[in-house]
Amino acid sequence: KKLVVLVSGQGSNLEAIRAACDTGQIPDTRIAAVISNRPTAPALGRAIEAGIPAVTLDHRAHARRADFDMALQKQIDHYAADFVVLAGFMRQLTPAFVQHYAGRILNIHPSLLPAFPGLHTHARALAQGVFWHGASVHFVTEGLDGGPIIIQAAVAVLPGDDEKSLAARVLAAEHRIYPQALAWLVSGRVRYTAEGTHWREKPQ
Ligand code: GRF
Repeated sequence: KKLVVLVSGQGSNLEAIRAACDTGQIPDTRIAAVISNRPTAPALGRAIEAGIPAVTLDHRAHARRADFDMALQKQIDHYAADFVVLAGFMRQLTPAFVQHYAGRILNIHPSLLPAFPGLHTHARALAQGVFWHGASVHFVTEGLDGGPIIIQAAVAVLPGDDEKSLAARVLAAEHRIYPQALAWLVSGRVRYTAEGTHWREKPQ
């Protein structure tokens, strides 16, 4: 299977996914391309080091969101992606784009959805005083961070935690659950259709 990974930042999730493809944890799958909306994203450098085609689509070069999404779709379809993987991709995608990839596009969000959709999740979790925080991998649908969930990891909020320490603990969990979610997806154990999410055997 071929993945196209969309990034905007460091690319640590990209790195975890690449490693999982290389070891076969994500079976018979490779990353066909990495696309970033930010020309300076360090994730692009990681792709280049791994010999993966790295493409920049600078969203500032497209006056309208729909134009950017069209250009993005052209690039993704050029690489004939089976699945589109948002890994720290900090752009809201238009409904038309999401519909085009319905069931084939995933995102990772640093919270236990439906808690804390949107930005600054760690600061909000600390401010709320939650005891449990974490990460969620979900199918991307039109709402922000609202799609059906594939896997979650719970992470304890510890006394003395600050945003940095909590974010680091959540990020480590992300690197475990994203490859697992993708392994289930490419092997057909989970799929998403207009009728909803279907599991061959739902994990406990
Ligand atoms: C992670 O915190 C992820 O949850 C969020 O953006 C960050 C991505 O980090 N979507 P990286 O670019 O994969 O290192």
